[in-house]
Amino acid sequence: MHESDLARLAHDAKRVRARHLRDLIADPNRSARYAQRVGPLLIDLSRQKLDDAALETLGDIAEASRWSEARDAMFRGEAINTSERRPVLHTALRAAESKLPMLAPREVLAEIATTRERMAALVDAVHDNTDGGIELARGITDVVNLGIGGSDLGPRLAVEALREFDAGKVRCHFLPNVDGHRTAALMKTLDPKRTLVLLVSKSFTTQETLLNGNVLREWLTNAYGGDSNAADRHLVAVSANVDATRAFGIPASRVLPMWDFVGGRYSVWSAVGLVVALAIGMPNFRAFLRGAAAVDDHFRTAPWRENLPVLLALAGIWNRNALGPASECVVPYHDYLAELPAFLQQLEMESLGKQVTPEGTRVAQRTVPVIWGNVGTNAQHAFFQALHQGTDVVPVEFIGVARPAHGLRANHDALLANMLAQGAAFALGKTFDEALAEAKGGSEAERRALAAQRTFPGNRPSTTILLDALTPESLGALLALHEHKVFVQAVLWGINAFDQWGVELGKTLAKAIEPVLTGAADAGQLDASTRALIEAIRSQN
Ligand code: F6P
Repeated sequence: MHESDLARLAHDAKRVRARHLRDLIADPNRSARYAQRVGPLLIDLSRQKLDDAALETLGDIAEASRWSEARDAMFRGEAINTSERRPVLHTALRAAESKLPMLAPREVLAEIATTRERMAALVDAVHDNTDGGIELARGITDVVNLGIGGSDLGPRLAVEALREFDAGKVRCHFLPNVDGHRTAALMKTLDPKRTLVLLVSKSFTTQETLLNGNVLREWLTNAYGGDSNAADRHLVAVSANVDATRAFGIPASRVLPMWDFVGGRYSVWSAVGLVVALAIGMPNFRAFLRGAAAVDDHFRTAPWRENLPVLLALAGIWNRNALGPASECVVPYHDYLAELPAFLQQLEMESLGKQVTPEGTRVAQRTVPVIWGNVGTNAQHAFFQALHQGTDVVPVEFIGVARPAHGLRANHDALLANMLAQGAAFALGKTFDEALAEAKGGSEAERRALAAQRTFPGNRPSTTILLDALTPESLGALLALHEHKVFVQAVLWGINAFDQWGVELGKTLAKAIEPVLTGAADAGQLDASTRALIEAIRSQN
């Protein structure tokens, strides 16, 4: 954004700050204007601390940014990821389910279609207990997904969230971390001869995934008395780096491609979602893509005032750049969405955690807030105290599901009543006078002291997203909604949402530190703090 945009926001913020959210939401027509549907999702922004004039200002800024031209360039496959000179085509992965003409290059769509067929054949082979013509091990009961970041978070979220749609053919396990505790524990509980190991890594250079891959390959080989050919039939890779998968020893027939035009955190729609398809079956996986495609179509066609990813982005920008909070909390009221905050953390913070433009100049405004959260109602009994009465205002995104997949009505009613109550409490608060009227007994001074502690400032914004039910379609829609929200924020903030140079420095340093830790190299150029910590670790081993 330009300095002049920020000045306009500051001007509107002055007016809006002077009002309490309680007064803004007193307008009985507000929900009709601020809550809209896209497919199975209702997005209610009525509890954002925004008025109509501020929204118009934000809309003007968005229109001036030419967000819709940037959007079309993405869908067409222009190289909008400029620092890596790559197109950004995760939307092409669900284009077959779209009702609009496909914009992505034909060869890209063809490759996606071929890969999807191979993915479906692999799922059939595992489900039907055949070798699929690719010498796949038979009798598979368990699948281990080795992958981290985007090769883990999206697939793990989808498998967990869609438990009700599980095809009942395999159990799925996830090993993202290089921490050997879980790897060792998993090897104790699984039967190697019945386990399929998916090595999911776009780059196929990720230390965590390759290290675990080698550990599990040795475990498989031992189970076959050293017969590595038999063991390797349990390995499938998903990667854009075919040379590296070959060097690892996985034949091309058991490698499903990924591409440079799909970012890791946007890749669950690709073969990276293989574990999802193994869990829920291909028809449900296609429904997941369909849900995302419906949001793509909406994003491509709706004017900004009705465009929900745009409105969500503008509400976020309003909070961050006009009102100022530095963090945003995501609270799904559904246990199966427990992985959603972590997924959104990567999607938003890896995409938008930038401070310079693609031209290398410093951005004019603050960018991504810290994204964090946990499921409700658990979170209410942990950190909500700070959200209600702490000195910092933290906007909250509530995610609820209207229709449960179980018959325990009282549980579900209590769950949703809590979600609605929290949003109301954040907005309305409780005044000192209300608290004082409730304070009984003690002296006047004691009553007043207690009332001060029992006052809720309120005036704290939230968004509520309501899914009709948690299904493959609604989950797909929910994730695509956030992907496009991130896209619009990146356009307005003038940053590239599709690279992640900020993760590289730590990786390079880890490579230099590891040999020092193992004693294979001396501390040399390492800084004094690192050297001292290495000493402390080595003294325990
Ligand atoms: O280190 C960050 C990152 O590159 C993420 O962007 C990515 O999702 C993750 O690592 C895993 O990468 P890969 O799929 O190449 O193993």
